[in-house]
Amino acid sequence: MNTQDVLFEIHSNLPRQGPGDAESTRRAWSYLEDLPTPTRLLDVGCGSGAQTLELARLMDGPITAIDVHEPYLERLRNEAENQGLAGRVEARNVSMFEMDFPPDSYDVVWSEGAIYIYGFEDALRDWRPMLSAGGYLVCSHLSWLTDSPPEEAADFWNAEFPAMATVSENRQTIAQAGYTPVADFQLPVQSWWANYYQPLEDRVETLWEKYADEPGALEMVEATQREIDLFRCYSDSYGYVFYVAQKASMEPIEESELVASLRGVLSSSGEDVDEQDYYEYLRKKHE
Ligand SMILES: C[S@@+](CC[C@H](N)C(=O)[O-])C[C@H]1O[C@@H](n2cnc3c(N)ncnc32)[C@H](O)[C@@H]1O
Repeated sequence: MNTQDVLFEIHSNLPRQGPGDAESTRRAWSYLEDLPTPTRLLDVGCGSGAQTLELARLMDGPITAIDVHEPYLERLRNEAENQGLAGRVEARNVSMFEMDFPPDSYDVVWSEGAIYIYGFEDALRDWRPMLSAGGYLVCSHLSWLTDSPPEEAADFWNAEFPAMATVSENRQTIAQAGYTPVADFQLPVQSWWANYYQPLEDRVETLWEKYADEPGALEMVEATQREIDLFRCYSDSYGYVFYVAQKASMEPIEESELVASLRGVLSSSGEDVDEQDYYEYLRKKHE
């Protein structure tokens, strides 16, 4: 069995393939304003589509959901059929690296727990043309919640995901890539456990024996358990953060708009950020 197969086996038939919950999907959606009707949405790395179906209930337009693992897509198609949403959800086996959707084809590009595969900054840049004017890119993304993480957490994630950035660094990346950072918020810790880590840990429990004689597979099982244990200790220092970014026109924008956008982000994050510094930063970006 190759590494990819083991990874899919570890994650097969879980409620989700990454941390998340319906309430957070709804909260992120609530920040989107003045969308055209019907709204056209692309869900990148949809997995078995827990968030896709939630989005389909929230909006009234067509959804294209893409992933590269056919069993996940099949599960999404069946569930969409069962819930009477099949007419609006198209689950397609397309890699995020091979999307050839024309410019302006979507009003919202959504990606929960999958943008890291493409790279946060690269995705913001490369997916922007698919969005209509004023469209939104919404993603949940693993982020540092502190500037000085505990050594054990830093060592683990510097090896597994060295590109992990802090929330304020990600906000800057969003603004630099031609978006207005509209809001961000942390995914609640319990959402990691309920829909993801608890069922994942139960699964891992069944795989130790199965792979006892297969060192490659066993290593993946061990790595999964290590990741879960780490979160148990250090969920204060990293987590999934939802980022809501609106495609900005590249025209200079009014100072009042910048200030309004800044206030929105600061108040939604509840974080202590120097308003003047951030304002200056945004202003220069839009000059
Ligand atoms: C962490 S899971 C997130 C799934 C789902 N969005 C959720 O939150 O439950 C990442 C997903 O990205 C998919 N994926 C991996 N490589 C991909 C690619 N090149 N293009 C599209 N999807 C990909 C995986 O199959 C998996 O379903």
